[in-house]
Amino acid sequence: MKIKYSELIDQTLYFPTEEFHTEENNLFFHDIPLMEVIEEFGTPLKISYLPKISQNINRAKTWFKEAFEKHDYQKKYTYCYCTKSSHFSFVLEEALKNRISIETSSAYDMDIVKSLYNKGKFGKSIEVICNGFKTDDYLDKISDLINDGFENIIPIIDNYRELDRLTESIDNTFDIGIRIASEEEPKFEFYTSRLGIGYKDIIPYYSQKIAEHPNARLKMLHFFINTGIKDTAYYWNELYKCLRVYARLKKIAPEVDSLNIGGGFPIKTSLNFDYDYQYMVDEIVSQIKKFCEEEGVEEPNIYTEFGSFTVGESGANLYQVISQKQQNDREKWNMIDSSFMTTLPDTWAISRHFIMLPINRWDDTYERVFLGGLTCDSDDYYNSEQHTNAIYLPVFSDTKPLYIGFFNTGAYQESISGYGGVHHCLMPQPRHILIDKDEDGNFIYEIFREKQEPEDVLKLLGY
Ligand SMILES: Cc1ncc(COP(=O)(O)O)c(C=O)c1O
Repeated sequence: MKIKYSELIDQTLYFPTEEFHTEENNLFFHDIPLMEVIEEFGTPLKISYLPKISQNINRAKTWFKEAFEKHDYQKKYTYCYCTKSSHFSFVLEEALKNRISIETSSAYDMDIVKSLYNKGKFGKSIEVICNGFKTDDYLDKISDLINDGFENIIPIIDNYRELDRLTESIDNTFDIGIRIASEEEPKFEFYTSRLGIGYKDIIPYYSQKIAEHPNARLKMLHFFINTGIKDTAYYWNELYKCLRVYARLKKIAPEVDSLNIGGGFPIKTSLNFDYDYQYMVDEIVSQIKKFCEEEGVEEPNIYTEFGSFTVGESGANLYQVISQKQQNDREKWNMIDSSFMTTLPDTWAISRHFIMLPINRWDDTYERVFLGGLTCDSDDYYNSEQHTNAIYLPVFSDTKPLYIGFFNTGAYQESISGYGGVHHCLMPQPRHILIDKDEDGNFIYEIFREKQEPEDVLKLLGY
């Protein structure tokens, strides 16, 4: 007896889910009738479902609110949106409907802050956490905003030079944070993150450079664990080490009142995703509370900077399977009408999985396939689902078109793939020159293209 694709899903996964269901063998995502969307707009297609952004922000706020109540936590929780996960104007504007702060990572991010302010999306009291390694351009833009009366711009000091530069260019008092350079998981090729200042150096740095500073006030300690917020010994150990620094700092610097635990909430990459957000938030809040009580220091305000969690689950990529190539008895390649490398670069660069489902033909029988992209690069393929180690799709047919979707793709994919000319963390494309030789053998230089300017980048992002 042949089994239908819908039966395979029933047997192997929890389905329907809160975001997926089928009607008449077609898939719906957040109740969006995907086949109708494809009929109207064609494929390949990128979807951004904006309400999901606000929904996730409010889910996280509720988890923290409940944990604060449960543990009688007396301080404030602040949700920051980490803009580098998606800088588009429509994402920022949706996120900003929910009383959030912003976390930036590079110079051109500050032009976005300016642009949103000019559009009236917020006033000068907007809180902006300025993270990342800071170039002179980034530092100048931070200083300009502070000098211009923005009251809550908090540069997070990543290295010693930054504070010296800010001190020279800011006219009045300003708040700062310090980023702890976390120690990486043992599987990494290096031991300590290149971002931030080492655990051991923070107290001496504070005593020598900040304690007596005429203008800078240390407000925040920041730490971010690259591998995300996970219920692992490694994560809890890093949090504990960070809390030790916080308590030591608080004892000599009473003005420090905030702990920023960075981003790293996971999102669903498989239908079997199982992560207890409320438990993790409870545990983080309770550990911070307990540690501060034991140390006899006031508990800090807690900040998070969720990127993927804010915007990841709002995105989807839809493709048509345009052909099938059978390369040997066992390997069938379904060719999509686009490329994984160029539209979902994380699938290739860091072997990331996304939820992948057919959009139509759920009542047809299925087969095991590989998915191939259209570039001629042999790495442009997608080969396994997290739950099965293989890909199953309704059987290919020349006469019945098959559409597939990759879901929860809303974070990082556009900037990493260079959407319209945008780059990761808005790094500008550098000036490009051509070098030739004249008849006498002298070099001739010609500028092919100038460095990308903030206005070029902001335009691409919808500002
Ligand atoms: C300092 C900092 N905060 C927040 C984030 C966002 O992480 P995620 O998208 O996993 O939430 C990152 C990501 O690299 C980061 O470096």
